[in-house]
Amino acid sequence: MMTGMEETDGLSQDNPMDEFTKARLFSRQGGGEKRIKDQHKKGKLTARERIATLLDEGSFQELGSLATHQVTDFGMAEKRFPGDGVVTGIGRIDGRRVAVYAQDFTVLGGSFSQVQAQKINRVQDLALESGIPVIGLNDSGGARVQEGVRSLAAYGEVFARNVKASGVIPQISVIMGPCAGGAVYSPALTDFTIMVDGTSAMLLTGPGVVASVTGEKVSSQELGGSDVHNTRSGNAHFRTRSDTEALALVQRILGYLPSNTQEDAPVLPSDDPIDRSDDELNVAVPSDGQSAYSMRKVLETIFDRDSLLEVHREFAPNAIVAFARLGGRSVGIVANEPSFMFGVLDINSSDKISRFVRLCDTFSLPVVTFVDCPGYLPGVDQEYNGVIRHGAKIIYAYCECSAPKISVVTRKAIGGSYVALGSRQMGADVTLAWPTAQIAVMGPEGAAPLVNGRQIREAADQDAERQRFIEEYRKRFFNPYRAADIGQIDEVIEPRETRFQLAQALDLLRTKVVSVVPKKHGLFPVRGDQSWRISHGAWR
Ligand code: HXC
Repeated sequence: MMTGMEETDGLSQDNPMDEFTKARLFSRQGGGEKRIKDQHKKGKLTARERIATLLDEGSFQELGSLATHQVTDFGMAEKRFPGDGVVTGIGRIDGRRVAVYAQDFTVLGGSFSQVQAQKINRVQDLALESGIPVIGLNDSGGARVQEGVRSLAAYGEVFARNVKASGVIPQISVIMGPCAGGAVYSPALTDFTIMVDGTSAMLLTGPGVVASVTGEKVSSQELGGSDVHNTRSGNAHFRTRSDTEALALVQRILGYLPSNTQEDAPVLPSDDPIDRSDDELNVAVPSDGQSAYSMRKVLETIFDRDSLLEVHREFAPNAIVAFARLGGRSVGIVANEPSFMFGVLDINSSDKISRFVRLCDTFSLPVVTFVDCPGYLPGVDQEYNGVIRHGAKIIYAYCECSAPKISVVTRKAIGGSYVALGSRQMGADVTLAWPTAQIAVMGPEGAAPLVNGRQIREAADQDAERQRFIEEYRKRFFNPYRAADIGQIDEVIEPRETRFQLAQALDLLRTKVVSVVPKKHGLFPVRGDQSWRISHGAWR
């Protein structure tokens, strides 16, 4: 075991440059050869390798590499490592400045100490003051047990800064190993959480505690692996197969975002013509008006080639939220996915959509909404679990969003889904519809007994009467023209022209200015006794 700088022999104590070389060498050794080998055996990179992979070559400026704890209890005096289990500093990604910290599992299991917090706080503060993103690479056994309440207080310092920075600079958490106990709340307070398959786990309590408290027997992966948080809990937004993929994803995400809310997102050169039209869009919606189709494919066709990046892809797949580019400019996309549960809105998709709309608003990214939704999901389970409150989040988020908003109704926009998903009343700036749009209060099967119940009951052939009504209703209301008549839809467009129409509207809205009522903050619809992910947005 390494015990301190005094072990690096052969260099003069009197020569400042020797002393410097010694200190630097020592600070680069992490937890030593054996632990680095163990880290590699698990398929994980070390903290320094991760930073080198993430940042532009040669751009890393380390801060605090010599800081170490002063704890003497529990034999800690012999376990002093310069840097204290976290590597922190600033650097560049694609030439843009970022702050970064990477927990070093090879040093005391990356356990979180007072000194770790001070180092992380330092880069958080510098990032907020300078308006640059913070990226946290998590790989830690949680609060350093030997430091007692000091390490708990230290977490509080990180959380407070996460909240302060929320809605000002992008914050990205990458889980690349254990992230246990209170440590999980920092990722939950940041904008994006990426998990690495197989090696990462986010758990409030480990399997042992779960077994003793609830009697449930689960493995760490079953309890908090990337699969759980991407598909079930929704706590993670992305998963990757390796550390390297995760770090490449961070670079990609940042490409869609400004460095802070006072700046614009980067505009990339695009060789995809703005007026590219695609005939396949004209037949994207099945002619029977009912069958499923892939909204994802529609989006891939409309936006710049290969620019679609789905967030929360595996959580609530009846909705799509994604970044994309149009003419090289970043946009946020919200869409229903008719190929999964008919694109219905439910509790989880309401969470997913509302959080994303707020995220786009925070960073002033235009929100383009594609609507094909039969409405909110009916049923006892949804009602008991608060679909009303969760559904209200979508309405709240759209109404609050002052970024440019454009909606395109591709097919169903029935009842609440029409109003909630980017209607004129939610502040949509431009509303478009395809000729296949069906904008109505409710479906014909539900409307028949409500509106024509008596006639149906009194008819000699009740089925024929019901069918006659359904056909009449469908013809009269299941189209975009009633909505266009009264100005709810600005224009019914040919689907193949959607890309150009959106480009025109986005160009118009680039200089959109909205005046807002000053207030401290509103009350986003949440309930105290059910967990929810912190959403953030800012009035601009
Ligand atoms: C101090 C720790 C530590 C910790 C690990 N280590 N976690 N030291 N405090 N929290 C040390 C180990 O003693 C060991 O040191 C080295 O790191 C590597 O750990 P191993 O257990 O050998 O590694 P591994 O087998 O890979 O297991 C990793 C692990 C396990 C699954 C993360 O270490 C573990 O379960 N740790 C505790 C996780 C946990 O319950 N955290 C919650 C803490 S409470 P040596 O020198 O022996 O090699 C908390 C509340 C905060 O965080 C609330 C804030 C609001």
